[in-house]
Amino acid sequence: MPGVRGGVIRGRRGGLALALPLAAALVASGCGSKKPTGPVVSTAPGGDGWHRRVVFYQVFVRSFQDSDGDGIGDLAGLIDRLDYLAGLGVGALWLMPVYPSPLADSGYDVADYRGIHPDYGDLETFRLLLDEAHQRNLKVMLDLVVNHTSNQHPWFLESRQSSDNPKADWYVWADAPAGDCRESNVIFGSERWTLDEARGQYFFHEFLPAQPDLNFRDPAVLEEVRGMMGWWLEMGVDGFRADVPYQYVESWPDCWYQPETFAIHQQMRQTLDAYPGRAMVGEIQGKPEQVLAYLGNGSDAFHLVFYFDAMYALWGAGSGGDPTDLALAVQLAVDDTPPGGVVAYTLGNHDMFRTPRTVSEDVAALKIVATAQLTLPGAPFIYYGEEVGLLNGQEVVVDFRDQARTPMQWDGSGTAGFTKGTPWIAMADGVKTFNVAEEDRHRDSLLAHYRSLIALRNATPALQEGSYEAVAASPLGVLAFFRRHDAGDRLVVLHFGVEGDVIVEIPTPSGWATALTDEVTGQTSGEVRDGVWRATLPPRTGLVLAPAGP
Ligand code: GLC
Repeated sequence: MPGVRGGVIRGRRGGLALALPLAAALVASGCGSKKPTGPVVSTAPGGDGWHRRVVFYQVFVRSFQDSDGDGIGDLAGLIDRLDYLAGLGVGALWLMPVYPSPLADSGYDVADYRGIHPDYGDLETFRLLLDEAHQRNLKVMLDLVVNHTSNQHPWFLESRQSSDNPKADWYVWADAPAGDCRESNVIFGSERWTLDEARGQYFFHEFLPAQPDLNFRDPAVLEEVRGMMGWWLEMGVDGFRADVPYQYVESWPDCWYQPETFAIHQQMRQTLDAYPGRAMVGEIQGKPEQVLAYLGNGSDAFHLVFYFDAMYALWGAGSGGDPTDLALAVQLAVDDTPPGGVVAYTLGNHDMFRTPRTVSEDVAALKIVATAQLTLPGAPFIYYGEEVGLLNGQEVVVDFRDQARTPMQWDGSGTAGFTKGTPWIAMADGVKTFNVAEEDRHRDSLLAHYRSLIALRNATPALQEGSYEAVAASPLGVLAFFRRHDAGDRLVVLHFGVEGDVIVEIPTPSGWATALTDEVTGQTSGEVRDGVWRATLPPRTGLVLAPAGP
């Protein structure tokens, strides 16, 4: 089979020895039908391509670090923690919305696109954050939430006045509900049209009634949005995470993925391209082909798109031990990503439960999914607290997603070093165990694992930008692949299996005739004989192999 190297994985389960030729395992998992893989990335015009190399980190400012004792995280607190983030090795921060907002949807209801919520600070503090972050080589990306505004936004307040004011068409108005959506954002209720008494018409909202949809069919809206983007870019913001950009335009009952959205993203991209070295990542839910379409030709739409299918597959591999769905998802992305485009791998975010719930409470499981995320061909996005294994919280202030939005845990004190006051939401369980200070004391902690894997990735061009070549994906638990780069190839071998050792045999490239070093531990791993590397891997083990030095 082209592109797949021969090899054998043998598993021992309950005394039964199993042997599977790798090609057979790949065919069984669906990977066998795929063509050989080419380079995943190439250099796109504009910028130095940092977005293809760095590890990203998602911050909920409200829950990261409180500096003034009001129990609410703020920008000054985040500035105080930049050294931690730089030390962790991440290279870019995505800040969830920090704009003025009534917080009906935790900031995803923006009342002013050119300001900072007073809970978090002001523009001066934001400028300081940019400066301090840049001094530490950290990029800063803002959340671009323009499918809708808050119903408190001055644009909406003006628009609802009458049907002939200057902003009358900036929102989606109709005399009667003009249609329902085939798709639904389930947690926001089933109503998509709400009567506005002032205007005597209904307005459309994909999300809450407090989040009226902007009308991108009025060109003035896009012009205003592009102006606003330029305003932040001019200030030095490094890019944006675009909130639901596939929902910008509706043709009821089709509310998602409308072809008209592509032209909008292209124009947004032009705004970014006017500034060197900026990038935007699109939050696209959907099938792989729907998601990858938002990368356009690789240089005319989003620089990156989140790849949630791979996230679900990572959860499955981490919890159940079978990586074949993950292998399939990765291969699909590798084959269909346009040159220059990048898929983003996540294990969680502010809309999902915490990884101990979605993957496993077993630290070894959290480590193996992190190793996968940080070695697969794409951009890893870490959700704050994931690196210490934060658990779900119990309290709900806004909606059930608050369970994954509890304060960061810095130490083992009652409020975990997050605040000197009362946290805006109850801390999650496990503060004493799952915190930075405690995990820093243990060389085998989850945090230590993240630190070393991120450092390894940052120092290894093959892991950052190398092409991908599948070696094996077996229901016995092993996913193995090469990352190839002129600066040196790496062989990544991940055993997700939950119980029982596996024996793995993989032919090595010529020039790899010596022993192999696992760069995660610095130890020699297995043995190479007659051009075949052979090792016995305990459950939930991940290796990044390179030929041992002279
Ligand atoms: C996105 C965000 C989510 C938010 C919604 C509406 O899906 O991730 O948190 O509620 O958009 O803005």
